[in-house]
Amino acid sequence: MNQGGERLQKVLARHGFGSRRACEELIASGRVTVDGDVAVLGRRVDVSCDEVAVDGVAVGVRPGLVHYLLNKPAGVISTADDTHGRRTVVDLVPSEPRVFPVGRLDADTEGLLLLTNDGEMAHRLSHPSFGVDKEYLAQVQGSPSRAAVRRLREGVTLDDGPTAPARANIVEANLVKIVIHEGRNRQVRRMCEAVGHPVVRLVRTRIGPLVDRSLAPGEWRKLSALEVRSLEVAVDSAGEQSRRA
Ligand code: URA
Repeated sequence: MNQGGERLQKVLARHGFGSRRACEELIASGRVTVDGDVAVLGRRVDVSCDEVAVDGVAVGVRPGLVHYLLNKPAGVISTADDTHGRRTVVDLVPSEPRVFPVGRLDADTEGLLLLTNDGEMAHRLSHPSFGVDKEYLAQVQGSPSRAAVRRLREGVTLDDGPTAPARANIVEANLVKIVIHEGRNRQVRRMCEAVGHPVVRLVRTRIGPLVDRSLAPGEWRKLSALEVRSLEVAVDSAGEQSRRA
């Protein structure tokens, strides 16, 4: 065991896993390993040679990578550049380092969108076989019947093929919560339309493990290291599930 080096909680805190106290709890809960062994409180590490992992994912020093969670307002488009000079999601976050949106929300869709310069994560998140759950609240025309909601769950046939089974629940008479892991163009709108309830307003409320009810439309924040980690874990397990399917 390394008796020199830094206290593990200090290293974790520096990587954004919360206060030193929170990092001590993380260690005590057995979620932190050093070179594959579950770490105990008091453990010291040398980051140049010890491999620290949280929930099985290495705490890498990846300088320069940023991950922003944006609450996209309606009317802003999800591309990095717009040839027509319209306002894009990239205009709402810091311009340096340059980031790009992960996947897209329609111009008229609101809610959570991830922007990053982490190409590896963006690729894995947008690849259908790694599709993490995305949760939407759809305000629709009319009041969907149970049969309509069942159709959403079982999958509906769209012009580009049937949708995978989804989770769907009625929240209020004209408000449906839908969780999908595919990322087809205008998918939720087309699914709702296909069951006879066109969408009036669509808000994405969760991306994998990421939720945030406190961000106002147009506001963004950096993901904590723990959130980045949890996203990586979600991507890995979604990829694993799709390989098994
Ligand atoms: N489904 C849609 O219909 N639109 C979005 O923006 C995202 C998912």
